[in-house]
Amino acid sequence: MHKNQKASYDRREFLRGSAAIAGTTVAGVLLPTGQVFGQQAKLKVGLMLPYTGTYTQLGIAITNGFKLAVEERGGKLGGREIEYFTVDDESNPAKAPENVSKLVQRDKVDVVIGTVHSGVVMGMAKVLKESGTIWINPNGGAGAMTGAACAPNFFRTSFSNWQSTHALGKVLKAKGIKTAVFITHKYAAGEEMMEGFKEGFEKEGGKLVKELYLPFPQVEFQALLTEIASIKPEAVVCFFAGGAAIKFLKDYQAAGLKGKIPLFGSGFLTDGVLDAVGDAAEGVETTLHYADGLDTKKDKAFRLAYAKTFKLQPDVYAVQGYDAGQLLAAGLDAVKGNIGDKAGVIKAMEAAKIDSPRGPWTLSKSHNPVQDMYLRKVVGKENKVQGVAWKALADPARGCKA
Ligand code: PHB
Repeated sequence: MHKNQKASYDRREFLRGSAAIAGTTVAGVLLPTGQVFGQQAKLKVGLMLPYTGTYTQLGIAITNGFKLAVEERGGKLGGREIEYFTVDDESNPAKAPENVSKLVQRDKVDVVIGTVHSGVVMGMAKVLKESGTIWINPNGGAGAMTGAACAPNFFRTSFSNWQSTHALGKVLKAKGIKTAVFITHKYAAGEEMMEGFKEGFEKEGGKLVKELYLPFPQVEFQALLTEIASIKPEAVVCFFAGGAAIKFLKDYQAAGLKGKIPLFGSGFLTDGVLDAVGDAAEGVETTLHYADGLDTKKDKAFRLAYAKTFKLQPDVYAVQGYDAGQLLAAGLDAVKGNIGDKAGVIKAMEAAKIDSPRGPWTLSKSHNPVQDMYLRKVVGKENKVQGVAWKALADPARGCKA
């Protein structure tokens, strides 16, 4: 953050923190009601995620991952038990301010974890900037959150949209591909992933010949697939996720394009969907900060624990939720659970080295992961790692005065 901005923020937060110490949260303190706590009160964690609609599975995986990280610490973070408050954001940006206010004003949560959809992320930002609540975003890649709108209390454990497609330019170049069409939903995530790809591809001498969009969450792809067939690019690059990714992969195959024009994308296209698409995704190559077959001790342990606990295979969203729990644990451990010491929590989270199933990562000054981008290829039911497409890729954080 900007030095002066940060200093004044820290002072304000320190005062709030001191008030909390004097008031309610620390062991053995006499509360105004006369009640004595033998231990600290529960930490209130607000989960604002999609539990209905196209991104439902993503919201569930993030929730599972977060709870697994908490369970691995005996159900406590910084020594405090957790009380969850949950809001279904329906991936609806228009309802975002009202939904996040339910957590902040009504439930008075200490921390907000959310969300998946970039438009909803931006709809949460104003409320959370004003309240100063610690906010960990476990998915939505909206560039502004860790760019022009960055703030001391905003953190992300996932990716920026730009980051998720930027390495694809190099990947296509290495295959001798010179022209591509990008197809996606028309909203911040799709547009920013298109920009990230375009920048990387053009730097390598490639040409993005057409951008094709449809409104979120529509899945009527037919007319656009017909257009792609008539343009005949050397490659198609896309961003779709969840239910929309399943439908797109199947429609691409049904339109006769599979095997004719190679399909690429950010790895959200093929993560968490392979059981549902038959062989429609076979051979599709993507870039992402997670992959199958990483073969590390941490990833193996995580996968085993996740499968045992939820009877499901984890995906990138589960990893991001898990890492949100890990990052919060780092912050709360440093202040022994006293979330009122916000400056202390922030400082510890900024310095955290996260031992993630994806591989180790740290945060940039704008609070976005600096991380390896893997090249993956669908082989059977796996997004098999092919190598690292870009080592330690950092988002440019344009406009963030950190
Ligand atoms: C987003 O809206 O930022 C978003 C949604 C789903 C994904 C990735 C990004 O899988």
